[in-house]
Amino acid sequence: MNVLILGSGGREHAFANQIAKSNILKKLYVAPGNAGTEKIAENVNIPVTDFISISEFVTKNNIELIVVGPEDPLVAGIVDFFKSKSEFSGLLIAGPDKAGAILEGSKDYAKEFMFKYNIPTAGYFCAVPENYDNAVEYMTTLNPPYVLKADGLAAGKGVLIIDNIEEAESELKNMLGGKFGNAGNKVVIEEYLDGIECSVFALTDGESYVILPEAKDYKRIGENNTGLNTGGMGAVSPVPFYDNEFAQKVEERIIKPTIAGIQKENMDYRGFVFFGLMNVNGDPYVIEYNVRMGDPETEVVLPRIKTDLLTLLIAAAKKELKNKTVEIDQRSAATIILVSGGYPEAYEKNKIISGIDEVKDSIVFHSGTTNKDGNIVSSGGRVLAVSSFGTNIFEALQQSYNSASKINFDKMYYRKDLGFDLK
Ligand code: AMP
Ligand code: GLY
Repeated sequence: MNVLILGSGGREHAFANQIAKSNILKKLYVAPGNAGTEKIAENVNIPVTDFISISEFVTKNNIELIVVGPEDPLVAGIVDFFKSKSEFSGLLIAGPDKAGAILEGSKDYAKEFMFKYNIPTAGYFCAVPENYDNAVEYMTTLNPPYVLKADGLAAGKGVLIIDNIEEAESELKNMLGGKFGNAGNKVVIEEYLDGIECSVFALTDGESYVILPEAKDYKRIGENNTGLNTGGMGAVSPVPFYDNEFAQKVEERIIKPTIAGIQKENMDYRGFVFFGLMNVNGDPYVIEYNVRMGDPETEVVLPRIKTDLLTLLIAAAKKELKNKTVEIDQRSAATIILVSGGYPEAYEKNKIISGIDEVKDSIVFHSGTTNKDGNIVSSGGRVLAVSSFGTNIFEALQQSYNSASKINFDKMYYRKDLGFDLK
């Protein structure tokens, strides 16, 4: 089978790494890819939302399966685009249609969906400029801190958590006034959930599903979970508090009703559901849905999957997931993200990276790299993900730290405290 992966991050490198091992793979392409994917696949210089160029490439290269990494093409309707063209009727796509992708594309919709299907989540109010006074009144009924979320996609930056109500009111005004562009035309105000977060993933064909290993992501830039939110500074899998009892609650209260809701809403959903969860005193609540895998979670989840990933993706895209199972590596995995100094604010690019080849006992996934005249240079804020196995997450982390110490680029930074809250 000829496969095209869309995306350019560590998540897509981890997909490529896993799919490349499949003995049913013929040829693997990644668009646009990075300096890591080009070692195991052919990079194609097409942006992920240029559907016309993607379709021309698909035809010319007999692509049989597209694996969509990031949310943008899904929310923009890549599945619907191909479904509307009869010449692509045989093409398989791992990813939901636009009706399904709105679970990530609109936080207001996601909340409505959760309430409709009785899925545990924080109480909320959806603010628009016209109901500002009611929104402020709702806020006065909440205990601080106040959670404000831009409704639309905001590259992970659209959520503010504010201690002080006056400041929350003024930020609400800023958001409705365009602070996050159109993404903030509506703002979801939520009850604050006090707990510990984790991420759970299912692959579904819209009816059946398989559950993948859970993971915990470290979102803040600074140690002890301080400072600005990032795309993710590292991840571990499994999550120590995610015991059988909690897993059972997640499946019964969250995964099953979500898949049932997807079916009732007639979404054509053949792809990943990412449940961002909060464990509040042993009970799971949904903080958000994403319609794709997480990054950096993928860099610990996929290495733990022993079942042929390509076979699973094909089964999801063909609606043949029923009775499929996933074999999971019982070892633990950890990844740490090496970023460019300054990230998630302004940072420099084009830094020459050395030492990757000296890493022997970890997998180095490329997140933001490019090949410039034979040198691997940084091209993003998150540059590399160093993933390792261990008998427990702390050993896996230690291995990643040992490997990271062999890698270098100007102003390289990473958190040295990952796992601190799980000891
Ligand atoms: P989201 O983009 O919805 O995942 O929100 C970003 C981050 O904000 C989450 O990872 C949580 O750390 C935090 N967060 C979001 N919603 C809540 C909530 N209702 N209560 C507490 N923390 C939240
Ligand atoms: N690591 C969180 C995300 O991918 O949204």
